[in-house]
Amino acid sequence: MLITFEGIEGSGKSTQADMLRDALVEKGYKVTLTREPGWGQLGHLIRTIILEDRDLELDPLAELFLFCADRAQHVKDYIEPRLRNGEIVICDRFFDSTIVYQGYGRKLDMRFVTKTARASAGDTTPDMTFLLNLPVREGLSRLRGRGGTTKMDEEPVEFHELIRQGYLLLSRRDPDRIIKINAARDAVSIHEEIRDSVLLRLTS
Ligand SMILES: Nc1ncnc2c1ncn2[C@@H]1O[C@H](COP(=O)(O)OP(=O)(O)OP(=O)(O)O)[C@@H](O)[C@H]1O
Ligand SMILES: [Mg+2]
Repeated sequence: MLITFEGIEGSGKSTQADMLRDALVEKGYKVTLTREPGWGQLGHLIRTIILEDRDLELDPLAELFLFCADRAQHVKDYIEPRLRNGEIVICDRFFDSTIVYQGYGRKLDMRFVTKTARASAGDTTPDMTFLLNLPVREGLSRLRGRGGTTKMDEEPVEFHELIRQGYLLLSRRDPDRIIKINAARDAVSIHEEIRDSVLLRLTS
């Protein structure tokens, strides 16, 4: 089973992915937690280009292909073998991030972005996606508390607003997979809702 976390910067994806991993491990499941972008040797290089190299003005189309190249390698070499093995894989961001950031955010052709983003994952589609829905201002202020920002975090507020709206649209189109979660609550309450819905799916 593949579970992914999505949402704007600072919405709590990494916090919740971590808490879910711990809860599932405690229940005896074999779980792998991973994230995008940046897995492996190629991912590490790509992550530096996309998120850290502040001198590089990336063309949106180039950015799209870099995220997709990262995913293609990550899915083939790391995620797919674990899914075939019956493990639960939790991924912090996946192709919905590409659809929303490069489609709604950078305003590339939505159909092309959607097709490319999905194709980069081969036949792999998340079974459950948790969309952590949080007002942009709240997400950005949480990030200021955390430190360690990336280039994406420094985009103007309007960009993050487009991202948030893009995510909401995706979840309305695919409500069976993309589960919208109110992330403006304490981390434990959010976790309990997510954990219960995953355990329900695993045992039904
Ligand atoms: N429910 C919550 N309430 C308040 N603060 C939270 C909550 N969840 C996480 N945080 C804090 O907010 C900050 C951002 O959380 P986190 O790193 O999990 O978000 P993220 O979505 O992974 O961010 P990014 O997009 O930068 O990867 C962290 O300092 C974290 O401790
Ligand atoms: Mg994170």
